[in-house]
Amino acid sequence: MTILILNASPRQQGNVSRMLLAMKEEAKNANVQVDEVNIQDLYIRPCTGCMVCREKSECRLPEDDAQRVLCKINSCNLLVIGAPCYWGNMPGTLKLLFDRIVYGLISKGNHGFPRPLHKGKHAILVTACTTVFPFNWLFNQSRGTINSIRSILKLSGFKIAAIIEKGGTGTSLVGEKELAHCRKAIRRFLKRHDQF
Ligand SMILES: Cc1cc2nc3c(=O)[nH]c(=O)nc-3n(C[C@H](O)[C@H](O)[C@H](O)COP(=O)(O)O)c2cc1C
Repeated sequence: MTILILNASPRQQGNVSRMLLAMKEEAKNANVQVDEVNIQDLYIRPCTGCMVCREKSECRLPEDDAQRVLCKINSCNLLVIGAPCYWGNMPGTLKLLFDRIVYGLISKGNHGFPRPLHKGKHAILVTACTTVFPFNWLFNQSRGTINSIRSILKLSGFKIAAIIEKGGTGTSLVGEKELAHCRKAIRRFLKRHDQF
């Protein structure tokens, strides 16, 4: 069992980072191997849209961190993605990564439908935004972030095991309640997969 955590928040003391840390600690307490990547630190060239990867299943651009992260995604059992809500969506840094690794997430299937390459794997999504509940959900703020990441992961074959959202971060930092949710999500996943 390997858990890969992708942290798309540039704030290492921010809400998303705190929630991911709680999950990492919970997994480590259960002796599960955890690998963590800070998306902000990666060097990834933007996709040029050449579409060659759809035919050749590899990117024509020189190797950079996009391919390295894809290798990690390929070998993990659980993918945890933490992404703050930026403009009701995911941060551009994370989108850049997804754009560059399309060929490693889906392949060309019959009748033009994409074929998922990660069937049988699971993902947990974590997000935070300043808009308070329930408006973060009603007005597609953190919900927009979750929906955009979820649609990519579902097309890629991942099952979403849990979603954790923290609204209203302008007035309150993530607290023990949300951190407990995060730990519980990891515990439940590991229990279901016989790791406890
Ligand atoms: C560029 C940018 C865009 C943002 N867009 C939104 C938004 O559309 N809706 C919202 O509720 N909060 C938005 N926020 C606020 C962040 O989602 C919020 O500060 C969140 O807590 C950041 O996560 P972090 O604490 O893990 O860094 C934005 C922040 C930044 C820097």
